[in-house]
Amino acid sequence: MTYGGGHCQVIVTTTMRAEGQSRTEAPGSLCNSHCVVRALMMASAWERNRYHSQLEKAAAFLPSLIAEDYLKIIGPVQAVQGVLLFADISGFTALTEKFIQRAGPDRGTDELAQTLNSYLCDILEEVLTFGGDILKFAGDAVLVLWRAPPQELAKTISLVLQCSRQIQRKYGNRDTHVGQKIQLKIGISAGPMDLLVVGSRRRQYFLIYGEALDAVCEAEELAHAGEVILSATSWELCEQHRLRTRRLAGKRAVKVTGMDPMSWSECQEALRKLVQHPRSHRLEGEGAMRPALLLPGGANAYDVLSKYISGAALGKLDDRVPLDLFSELRPVTSLFVQLRLTARISTVDIRTIIHDASRMMLEILCPHKGEINKIVLFDKGCMFLCVFGLGGEKLPYESIHALQSAIQIFTSCSTMLMEIEAVSVAVTSGMVFCGVTGHPLRHEYTVIGQKVNLAARMMVRYPGLVSCDAVTYASSRLPPYYFKELPERKMKGVGHPGTVYQYVGITKKSIFGMGLAKKRSEYAPLLGREKEIDLFGSCLKAYEDSGQRHILAFEGTMGSGKSHLLTELAYLGQAAGHRVVAMELLEVNVRQSFCAIRTLMARALGLQDSEPCGARQCTLQTKLRGTIEESSFCLLNDIFLVEFPVSDEVRKMRGIERKKELHSTWAKVLEKTIGGEFGIFVIDNAHFIDPASWSIMSPVLRNVSYFMVMSLAPGYARTEGFCKAAADNTMSQKITYLHLDELKPAAVVQEVCQNLGVDSISRDLARFLIQRSSGIPYYCKELLGCLLCNKMLLFRTRRRAEKAEDNWESLIIEASPLTATSSSSAGNDGTVCIIRPDVNPENTVLPTTLKEIALAQLDQIKPLKQTVLKFAAVIGPVFTTQLLSHILPDGIRHKMNCLLDMLVSDNILKWLKTTEVPEEVRDPTKGPGSSRQAESGVERPSPSKKTTERQSGVLVFCVPLLREAAYELWPERQRVALHRKCAAFLERHAHKCESCSRGDFVAFHRFAVTSTQEGGSSQGPAEQGDPHSWEALVLAGEQLKRDRTHTPEGRFLAKSEQTAELPSKTDRKHSGTCSCECRAIVESVLVPLARHYMAMGDAARAFYYLLESAAAYLHVSNSYMALMKLNEAEVLRNSLEKKANVIACFEEATFFSLKGEVCWHMGRMKLAKKMLREALSLLGRQFPRTSIGAFVKSQVEKLPCASYVARRASSLPQEARRKRLAWLLRQSCCLSLLEHLFSLEGTSSGRTFSRLAARMKANTDRAVDSYRAADSCHR
Ligand SMILES: Nc1ncnc2c1ncn2[C@@H]1O[C@H](COP(=O)(O)OP(=O)(O)OP(=O)(O)O)[C@@H](O)[C@H]1O
Ligand SMILES: [Mg+2]
Repeated sequence: MTYGGGHCQVIVTTTMRAEGQSRTEAPGSLCNSHCVVRALMMASAWERNRYHSQLEKAAAFLPSLIAEDYLKIIGPVQAVQGVLLFADISGFTALTEKFIQRAGPDRGTDELAQTLNSYLCDILEEVLTFGGDILKFAGDAVLVLWRAPPQELAKTISLVLQCSRQIQRKYGNRDTHVGQKIQLKIGISAGPMDLLVVGSRRRQYFLIYGEALDAVCEAEELAHAGEVILSATSWELCEQHRLRTRRLAGKRAVKVTGMDPMSWSECQEALRKLVQHPRSHRLEGEGAMRPALLLPGGANAYDVLSKYISGAALGKLDDRVPLDLFSELRPVTSLFVQLRLTARISTVDIRTIIHDASRMMLEILCPHKGEINKIVLFDKGCMFLCVFGLGGEKLPYESIHALQSAIQIFTSCSTMLMEIEAVSVAVTSGMVFCGVTGHPLRHEYTVIGQKVNLAARMMVRYPGLVSCDAVTYASSRLPPYYFKELPERKMKGVGHPGTVYQYVGITKKSIFGMGLAKKRSEYAPLLGREKEIDLFGSCLKAYEDSGQRHILAFEGTMGSGKSHLLTELAYLGQAAGHRVVAMELLEVNVRQSFCAIRTLMARALGLQDSEPCGARQCTLQTKLRGTIEESSFCLLNDIFLVEFPVSDEVRKMRGIERKKELHSTWAKVLEKTIGGEFGIFVIDNAHFIDPASWSIMSPVLRNVSYFMVMSLAPGYARTEGFCKAAADNTMSQKITYLHLDELKPAAVVQEVCQNLGVDSISRDLARFLIQRSSGIPYYCKELLGCLLCNKMLLFRTRRRAEKAEDNWESLIIEASPLTATSSSSAGNDGTVCIIRPDVNPENTVLPTTLKEIALAQLDQIKPLKQTVLKFAAVIGPVFTTQLLSHILPDGIRHKMNCLLDMLVSDNILKWLKTTEVPEEVRDPTKGPGSSRQAESGVERPSPSKKTTERQSGVLVFCVPLLREAAYELWPERQRVALHRKCAAFLERHAHKCESCSRGDFVAFHRFAVTSTQEGGSSQGPAEQGDPHSWEALVLAGEQLKRDRTHTPEGRFLAKSEQTAELPSKTDRKHSGTCSCECRAIVESVLVPLARHYMAMGDAARAFYYLLESAAAYLHVSNSYMALMKLNEAEVLRNSLEKKANVIACFEEATFFSLKGEVCWHMGRMKLAKKMLREALSLLGRQFPRTSIGAFVKSQVEKLPCASYVARRASSLPQEARRKRLAWLLRQSCCLSLLEHLFSLEGTSSGRTFSRLAARMKANTDRAVDSYRAADSCHR
């Protein structure tokens, strides 16, 4: 795709090189063997610590032209001579759309970035080998320079041609797995050009300008996929005798169809003569490919070079974040600006224009934390890509920041720059790949994604205005009158752009401001705010009695319910007979001078935007006569859009004088409007009061009597001002300041019931929403919206539930404990809402709105701390330092403790202290390991039992949302690798606790599935037998269990614990409270292992650990959780149905047998029998259904076979013997359950089947004994 005139975008990452890509060498190719060697070295290039210094790292972000010659760049314009190559990928936009369609915006973007990066890396590898200096990445294109003196141009063109043809031959045509071909078009030009440097003192950009640039663009545009085109000049200059060419009709440029290749020595010779660093380019060794990386560097070299690097990347570079951890998947806002020039102008003029424009933009963008990511120059103008929300730079209300910047840039560029024909600005928001792209030796930090492409297209298709996409429109949450809908226009390669809007900014309507955005009836009833309402009542009463001014300020985070509360209070004030003047300020208003005061007065005076100007004038005259001078009315003209004749007094005033008069007029009007009569002023979002308004309001508010209610958000200067004033003794009588707490769990449940229109919800749903929302009503609403959108909820009436069929699904539905029914519920058939049994809400991605909020918080953390948090996020909400240290890269590991301490003091993480460990975990009566170790399948060194130390090495995320947002930043490939590391670590601990004799929860499970187990449980020597690791996991497990069953309040869901953990009906060892550590291990090892394998896409292993988890929950008498885990296994199994042989037969059998056990605990006897029969059948031990069958079977079972079994047992190798033991023990378990089940029937047939089961079990147990005996003999 192309940005603007004919320029484009490119990007890369080497690690993403498509595996198995054959690198076929063509005859005459340069250094074939070197390429192969290099290709191997490159595979892990990003992971290796290949740069020795910060300077080298910085130099890799820059072309040699800058990195080598930064000391020589004295003036803003410098002449350069050489050959340019411009390569553009065709099919990139279509490829983007395909990926998004196939895998959605998140994964699609990730896959796109990987594919593109791998492709570009291959191309750049060739370019670097041939000594090219990669100047610019521009979208899906790349601009390369070979600097050469005039006498060497001919040879250099041949070298570039050889490189181009090699690239086309090897990579000119690539198929992608989504069925879209990507191809390459190459243009070549040669001659003189200029290097321009623009920007501010802190941030600089370089550009190439001149005829050679125009020519290379034109040549590329003439090229079809797979072709190489030489510009007219380069054709004239080149070694024509070497080439076979074809003329293009009506053009002077030529298409190269063949070439006599240069020899190895010729290439070497040509390379030696290029203008570059004195250490000549050698063909071998990666460092030699970029001589710039070998720079010794001056004292200030890093400072000079870093000015050219993206601020977001520099932040990470400075904080020593490893390069391979720079890249993320993030929602950002992209802003494209195109400046079209009236005519072709001189280099000096163009440099001045771009320099001024970039300085202006940098100034506008700086407070909004936006950055100019790149500037691309083309023949008819210039294009700027600005990005908001890059790593470390996210702000809340990002779209508003972007839209405000867009309109400011549009206005400034349109009015202040010369020679500009049109300014076009386009803004889009969405998920992008945001990170390092290119080659390990030469890369840039930029954004790739569908939304970046869309913005580039919109900028071209909607010229001369500020356009934005539907997502930016919606996420700005600005009133519709800030926008205008634009007609639909076709955009090349873009499937469904959605509605495009023009952002018009301040209009007549916005001048008069808004009342409270929503009416009381639009909000459902206010819940859980009794304390606030009481406070309002008492403050108002005091005001009525004394007439003393009072401000009641509520401070709350985004979405805590400030507006909802203020709407309710405004209603209550009105109901108490007061006149209420209410207004809501927006983020945009804080930068609009006098906006707050104007809105307040317009609303107090009753001015409307819809009425004619005359009517407004009339109102002003009536209400303000006697308050301000007649001659001063004209000062209100611009403010309220009225047309009072300008008085002589005002006309004569000079600037400052007029300003003073205006201030005093404002003050008088304000005093009149808010003072005197009883009235309540309600200001929602008072933190957005602009400074100019405040300078007038603040003295007036100190002198008049009024009652004001306002809402404030933390983190703003105005909020801090009120907070301080309230704390001040002299003011505390006049200001009441209250923090809005999170809603209590009961209120959250009520809110959910209200929103869903049901009487109660399942406790799982309640727990999910309470924990994820942290009691913030807006979060809760968004999460609920997300669940509904993904069709994850199920509605039913209770009566229907009673009649439910006897199947697994109905058991799941019925087993879901419900929250307390709301008082309005009507009798028995009240509606309930539960999470659909076939989905797992934990697997939903965070809604974008919440992700944005969380990222804004995350970005306040320094890059390296953020990186550690991202690693921890992969582990889970609770993690041990041992595991974190295991997955951290070497470069960060040694700083881990220090970084964690800092994160704890920032209140992001919390150490789990021993004081929080429940009694049962620290039970001193636990005995040593028993001799049953071998029996249960694992033999491991026993971790020595020490009492857990104070800082036990277990940490918890304070805010769940932050963890999820951090987790979702990982690109897939890296995320999978980390899950793999976590799984490898945890597998060492995936067994029962010592007092339960270790071993698998499904006896001999690992031996039954040896083929899938491979590689999973390798033990690293360093961690072998680490006792702290186990203890920390036990502690973490206890915390996870509490998280699952308790809310922060502790009480509400604690009730559900009683019903969730159904008492076991057998006389289990672990009935009642479990004193072993298995309860914790299932939470911190087995359940996470299933999650890690799921995230890795390893279904068989995920299934294995879901079964282990279910068995473990049964082991600790928690049938409900066992049911839940089996349900997850069922969902996974259903999703695999079409893929044969993923789940082994033993696993299937175990699945059914565990299901049978759960059904039995849940009182579903019939279903239990069905499941157990199914399990036995899969285990090769059919259990008959009829009495004849039972008779025949009992005869067969009487036959002696003990000696045969014993012989067989001793003849088998150990692995096979244990595998067989697993099967036998599972059979025995099923038969034992069946024996009990049938005996409970109390009928004669029941007794027959029970006896049969007992006999079969006895036989099986005998076989088990034989196998065990053989096993102990051979040990
Ligand atoms: N006490 C409450 N009871 C029920 N629902 C609530 C309550 N408070 C807020 N909500 C719901 O939560 C959502 C967000 O609330 P609201 O818009 O009032 O938050 P806010 O603090 O004003 O957010 P912002 O900071 O974005 O302005 C609304 O849909 C609202 O109906
Ligand atoms: Mg609000």
